[in-house]
Amino acid sequence: MFNRIGVIGAGAMGRGIAQLFASSGQEILLYDTRAEAIDEAIAFNRNLLQRSVAKGKLSEADFEATMARMQPAAELSQLKDCDLVIEAIVEILEVKQKLFGELEGIVREECLLATNTSSLSVTRIAAGCQRPERIAGFHFFNPVPLMRIVEVVRGERTDERYIQGLVDLANKAGHFPAITPDTPGFLVNHAGRAFGTEALRMLSEGVATPQQIDRILRDGPGFRMGPFELFDLTGLDVSHAVMESVYEQFYHDPRYTPSFIAAQRVAAGLLGRKTGRGFYRYEDGQKIEEPEATPETVLVNRPFWLHCDDDAVRSDVHAVLEAAGAILETTNLPSDEAICLVTPLGEDCTTALLHLGLPADRTLAIDVFADWDKRRTLMRTPASNPELVAQARQALGADGVPVEVINDSPGFVIQRLIASVVNLGSEIAQKGIATPETLDKAIQLALGYPKGPLAFGEHYGKQRVLSVLNNLQTVYGEPRYRPSPWLRRRAQLDLPLTTPDHQE
Ligand code: NAI
Repeated sequence: MFNRIGVIGAGAMGRGIAQLFASSGQEILLYDTRAEAIDEAIAFNRNLLQRSVAKGKLSEADFEATMARMQPAAELSQLKDCDLVIEAIVEILEVKQKLFGELEGIVREECLLATNTSSLSVTRIAAGCQRPERIAGFHFFNPVPLMRIVEVVRGERTDERYIQGLVDLANKAGHFPAITPDTPGFLVNHAGRAFGTEALRMLSEGVATPQQIDRILRDGPGFRMGPFELFDLTGLDVSHAVMESVYEQFYHDPRYTPSFIAAQRVAAGLLGRKTGRGFYRYEDGQKIEEPEATPETVLVNRPFWLHCDDDAVRSDVHAVLEAAGAILETTNLPSDEAICLVTPLGEDCTTALLHLGLPADRTLAIDVFADWDKRRTLMRTPASNPELVAQARQALGADGVPVEVINDSPGFVIQRLIASVVNLGSEIAQKGIATPETLDKAIQLALGYPKGPLAFGEHYGKQRVLSVLNNLQTVYGEPRYRPSPWLRRRAQLDLPLTTPDHQE
């Protein structure tokens, strides 16, 4: 359907889009208001492809053919014979609308006009056009050739024929086409909101340090980067702007609330890697690694008592306490000496110990969502006796696995963050923003999560995730944590989270 493609805007995205489709066999005409930007983009692509030749990944003949398919256009009017024009210019609605208006006067009637916008409404860009049915979103990720996913965004009036055409084109180029309607943040920037905002929320409550939160989330669910490392890499100014934009566009739904911490840090220029200082420090672009603090060795002279129905957890705890030379009491109630361990889901330690009638000064909580063999989380309350916290930390780390001590938090770090990711993914499925399969695949490809949101829900157990959310909502009394009906129904009916709703 699309053999001749015009690409407008020869910046970071436009040059990548040009390279992708020239490599997959389409003829490309690259236009930019700055002529030198076109030359730079073509030189950039030549250099990249030459490196592939040097590595033996691309033949000399294919290299020549690909470069021959990537031609500069000196005037916009040279795009008149294109079947598809992809716009990747500055992110300003009026400028994009003006360009699309001009293009309508140049291209043939059946030519599709696509926008690579990441935050503007495709429908609004199309609204000023004579034929809005031929306008669609085609949203790539940076760097385009390596990020093998593109969102195919259906504007309110986009003709389905064009959507199919973009899907076929993406598939041909080896990119996964994630079809999504035109909603704020589309699919990926919407689904990605839970990770960062929930981490900032924990930080704002003094639950743990950014370094602790990052370590816990890397070693538990297996995120490649913790949220604060990711903020530093992306630039907090960019991330905060997306958080604000999605929050505004969803009319202040508390699920998306940005953080005053981010706003302040942006004002202070603590943007991350690019300014040398963010949540971490950087020298010559390299993160300065601070070693983890090693706690002082203490004498463990107390027995432990555990409240948990799960035999596997009990045997793990028993084994490590044995290694520490400590006793795990097996009585129904703890002795007067015992350090009591509880395993709440979505409750803070304070709420859990009050429910169970346990002593406040010697009750601590452990997170059953953590990966026991990699890193453990021990949660204390304001009433905790510091000497007993030190004993518990030492005993629970007797086999060499690090133990993070955090302050009281409903859902520790992992539970509340995972529950937020699963809940937002469920809400996206509920709103028809993506099919369950598209959602999970897109999030893994675009955000690098080890599992998609719905797969995370199955991994930790959807009923448990639902309990975490219900308890979070009760403890905080906030609609931010209200469970999505998609998740609630499937957990209650014990159906896979990928089960679709009926369609007429
Ligand atoms: P960029 O600043 O690197 O490149 C934009 C290019 O467009 C510049 O070369 C500029 O001279 C040219 N330009 C500006 N106005 C023009 C006009 N009226 N006509 C023709 N050329 C014009 O920007 P970048 O990062 O490539 O972004 C382009 C678009 O892609 C934006 O809409 C952005 O939101 C979107 N996007 C950016 C991503 C990123 O990570 N940088 C990711 C996904 C989407």
